Amino acid sequence: MTLHILATGTSRGIGEAIAARLRTEDVRIVGHASRPGDSGTIAADLSDPSAPGTLWNAALDRLDGRIDVLVNNAGIFEAAPIEQPEESWSHAWARTMQINLTASAQLSRLAVLHFRSLGGGRIVNVASRAAYRGDSPLHWHYAASKAGMIGMTKTIARGYAAEGIYAFAVCPGFTLTGMAEDYLASRGGDGLLADIPLGRVAMPEEVAETVKFLALDAPPSMTGAVIDINGASYVR
Ligand SMILES: NC(=O)c1ccc[n+]([C@@H]2O[C@H](COP(=O)([O-])OP(=O)(O)OC[C@H]3O[C@@H](n4cnc5c(N)ncnc54)[C@H](OP(=O)(O)O)[C@@H]3O)[C@@H](O)[C@H]2O)c1
Repeated sequence: MTLHILATGTSRGIGEAIAARLRTEDVRIVGHASRPGDSGTIAADLSDPSAPGTLWNAALDRLDGRIDVLVNNAGIFEAAPIEQPEESWSHAWARTMQINLTASAQLSRLAVLHFRSLGGGRIVNVASRAAYRGDSPLHWHYAASKAGMIGMTKTIARGYAAEGIYAFAVCPGFTLTGMAEDYLASRGGDGLLADIPLGRVAMPEEVAETVKFLALDAPPSMTGAVIDINGASYVR
């Protein structure tokens, strides 16, 4: 059976690599971005709480009413210095939580309900090394959103495994995308590379290969697993 996949944040970076890798398999995949772009991609700004529902329904339409796999990849990494006024700090916190965590939860909820009617399905969440290690003082919210994603993944895995619904997460360290390039430039690239025993940041294709494995091949007993992709920069 050709699997039907919805993947978020596929316009660039890791998501673009995930979509490209999955397209080499026997699947039908619908991609997504925040803004209208290529015609095969659904636009939905996930900072809007109504967007996940609209996106899900649009993806179902494109995929003839069946989605077997959801990949929650879209995310932001925006700085929120604690020195800024309470109002703007709280706004930044809420925005990161909505896009990185709540939108993923909203999509996962719709996926679990849909998978029940199908008799099973898979969710793959793109979290971060920050979920376990924490992040910079500018990114409390980012680390918290990704830690929340891990808690959500494990809860879904435990709650619905008996119904054939499996959930996995990947935790990339620095990965060579626009997001990481900005961070490396702002924090001093050489020092950060010294912290990675592999001697380089991860490539989007390495994350994509892992996501493809979890989405299509991972044995059911792996449900709830969280896979690190960080060049041994954080081993746990
Ligand atoms: N790169 C890293 O070092 C790294 C490390 C650990 C985890 N991650 C995680 O990996 C995922 C992908 O990161 P990346 O580095 O590939 O990021 P990226 O290059 O900045 O791409 C982000 C993707 O998310 C989408 N997106 C951003 N804001 C959105 C919004 N408001 N609504 C809907 N979609 C939105 C973007 O769509 P547009 O093109 O329309 O903006 C784009 O497709 C993220 O969840 C990130 O937290 C990345």
